[in-house]
Amino acid sequence: MTLTPDSELRLAFDPSILTKDLTKNLPSGLHARPLSSNDHSRGHLKVLSNLTKAPQVPDQEWEQRFESITSLSGVYYPIALIDVETDSIAALGSLIVEMKFLRGLGKVGHIEDIVVSSNHQGRGLGKVLIQILTSLSESLGCYKTILDCSPDNQAFYEKCGYKLAGVEMAKYTC
Ligand code: ACO
Repeated sequence: MTLTPDSELRLAFDPSILTKDLTKNLPSGLHARPLSSNDHSRGHLKVLSNLTKAPQVPDQEWEQRFESITSLSGVYYPIALIDVETDSIAALGSLIVEMKFLRGLGKVGHIEDIVVSSNHQGRGLGKVLIQILTSLSESLGCYKTILDCSPDNQAFYEKCGYKLAGVEMAKYTC
């Protein structure tokens, strides 16, 4: 199976936002596009399970979540890197834009849910994905871009140009 053209997909946001300049460092054989409404069947949750618990859910419920995300215009930018040869998901990551009142109605970009599928890890894809999301955040006018990660991944994010800033706190419900 070869790459499904963007024009045949229902995408989470306007793909023209991912300009050639933003994606210029992507290795050949990979395509960056917004998450698509049929990525559930491309193994979206299976790839996410390399990051954390991501149990299967019914198609209809996955699609409802896709619609909710898509309706938040200008807020949620979920990106998939697609292996052109197999039309499968090689990596996933999202930028969420938080609108603030401070800093003159400033915006903060939050990088979330970064994962490279196990057969694509260690080839520089994670680094390129972070470059794309960071440049996207900057091009959307965010005054800073932040993320939370485990200590195991700190060195990876340092290689992507990020610095330790503050302490993450969490209170899990389940
Ligand atoms: N610790 C130290 N260095 C690392 C690590 C790590 N865990 N992972 C990668 N690196 C280094 C690489 O050696 C490489 O170094 P180099 O530029 O000197 O050659 C550089 O970082 C870039 O590595 P990539 O090949 O781009 O990394 P990869 O494509 O494998 O992606 C990632 C890294 C995203 C951490 C991947 O291993 C993965 O998906 N892991 C499981 C899920 C996960 O932990 N995601 C991060 C969650 S945090 C969040 O979502 C905000």
